[in-house]
Amino acid sequence: MLSERIRAVHPSPTLRFTALARELQSQGKKVVNLAAGEPDFDTPEPIKAAAIRAIQEGFTKYTPSSGIPELKAAIVSTLARDRGLAYRPEQVMVTCGAKQALFNLFQVLVQPGDEVLVPSPYWVSYPEMVRLAGATPVEVRTEPSDKFRLSAEAVSKACTPKTRCLILNSPSNPTGAVLGEQSLKEIARVAQAKGLWIISDEIYSQLVYGGKAPSIAAVAPEVAPKTLVVDGVSKAYAMTGWRIGYMAGPAEVVEAAGRLQDHSTSNPASISQKAALAALTGDPASVREMAREFGRRRDLLVRRLAGIPGISFVEPEGAFYCFVDISKSGLKSSVFSERLLQEALVASIPGDGFGWDHYVRLSFAVGSEALEEGMNRFQKFIGSLIS
Ligand SMILES: Cc1ncc(COP(=O)(O)O)c(C=O)c1O
Repeated sequence: MLSERIRAVHPSPTLRFTALARELQSQGKKVVNLAAGEPDFDTPEPIKAAAIRAIQEGFTKYTPSSGIPELKAAIVSTLARDRGLAYRPEQVMVTCGAKQALFNLFQVLVQPGDEVLVPSPYWVSYPEMVRLAGATPVEVRTEPSDKFRLSAEAVSKACTPKTRCLILNSPSNPTGAVLGEQSLKEIARVAQAKGLWIISDEIYSQLVYGGKAPSIAAVAPEVAPKTLVVDGVSKAYAMTGWRIGYMAGPAEVVEAAGRLQDHSTSNPASISQKAALAALTGDPASVREMAREFGRRRDLLVRRLAGIPGISFVEPEGAFYCFVDISKSGLKSSVFSERLLQEALVASIPGDGFGWDHYVRLSFAVGSEALEEGMNRFQKFIGSLIS
């Protein structure tokens, strides 16, 4: 029989709906994919060239498990330049995507009996990762009326003597909410008073529209010794398949996460590390252009959604998702997404996987033309349900 540990873990709803959409596409159906969790852009050429060079030069063997020194140095510089964070190389570890950094951190920081605060709506993997570490995820709800921004008060109220860790995800998947300096300072005050670890998932930090997404470790340095910053190249550089992420934080935690990595995956792929090095040290122009294009698409999506009666949403301030309230359709989110796909050929992700059953997540990581077409179909579908 399978272990109790794995029996408690649910399949990923994002991967399920992406697979369903792919199946319809393979049958020749013209699906508009608003379910994507990755940029539709290709990885920039100089990054690909660095990977090809790595292969040609035989850089194809094991590397240090926690990453090559030159990539760690580039991460240290990037965090200083873009995020105002000061780390030494031994406080940094390269991982197989941000996902593995998060997984390792839960394994290292929490244990059975501990509670982990998970702001809701949440990215689908957080509660599962917490459970895999034997701890209990505790939802801290955010509200659309507060633009889905986490409040220090809600964090404080959710704390019990068992609370050990708080997850932050700004900009957020699935809401696009961004926490400003003041909110982060207030949250830091609570976290410090309660002695919490903070895991700050900043994977969408480069995709912010009309402002900045500060890092809690920079705006409230007093919590930096108990904060682990997680980021990576997947979203900002269109490199999801290369599987390079990283963590930065107190050396003893990073070292412990490194021991786990030594005995599980070993090093992230050597070739991908060279590609990530080229990404972080290269010309940032392509990243900026991608972010600008996401901004234009966001505006398009927001304009179209605003013209559809019967739904409501909060304008995303970052990432590339919009979380849409479909409660007036009277359908559960999984039924809504299934029907939207089968009847209107639009792929979305049901909100139940993010902890909210009367919402769906729409992604704007598709070209403007597809987005317009997707919104035409979405509007017609909503019209058939809500009159
Ligand atoms: C909030 C959040 N964190 C982490 C990840 C994982 O990123 P990576 O591809 O670097 O593992 C994702 C990917 O969808 C995400 O949305």
